[in-house]
Amino acid sequence: MDFNEVIKKRRAIRKYKKKEVPDEKLQKLYEAIKLAPSGNNRQPYKFLFVKDTEKRKEIVSKACHQDFLYDAPILMIACCEKGKNFDTAIAVENMVLAATNEGLATCYIGWFERDVVSKILNIPDGMEPCILVPIGYGDETPEEKDKKSIEELVSIIE
Ligand SMILES: Cc1cc2nc3c(=O)[nH]c(=O)nc-3n(C[C@H](O)[C@H](O)[C@H](O)COP(=O)(O)O)c2cc1C
Repeated sequence: MDFNEVIKKRRAIRKYKKKEVPDEKLQKLYEAIKLAPSGNNRQPYKFLFVKDTEKRKEIVSKACHQDFLYDAPILMIACCEKGKNFDTAIAVENMVLAATNEGLATCYIGWFERDVVSKILNIPDGMEPCILVPIGYGDETPEEKDKKSIEELVSIIE
């Protein structure tokens, strides 16, 4: 897919088909994570791809009643060293756009109980789960959300 098309096509998807994602597609997502930039190239993050049904159920039960998450076959939890959310966000967006390019659906999920999810996944001290992303095949095609105008978002200083 053309790069601009990928950016335009991405949406927050909140309805998933109960359908597995092939490993070849996931490999593309892993590569997108690997290629992301980070401060001093420290890569202060770790990405957990949870396929196990019981673990996924446990995690979703801590995601503030966002029940659509139960249907996604994969939950990705991005973990980062404390204070390194910016580096991590870049790698996550690389992954999200790679997923869109593979015809997969995603949705950033910031609303979940980080402390409990941290325990469920045995995330080591010094690291924290910063965002959760369901990955799968979407079962809805939402319209583009209203966005601020370019003039509101961008100032040119000449
Ligand atoms: C940091 C962050 C946290 C978010 N958390 C949630 C969430 O917990 N639940 C949810 O349904 N959507 C969540 N979203 C998705 C946004 O609501 C969505 O991106 C926004 O409405 C714009 O829609 P679009 O992604 O289709 O352009 C989150 C997005 C971001 C970037």
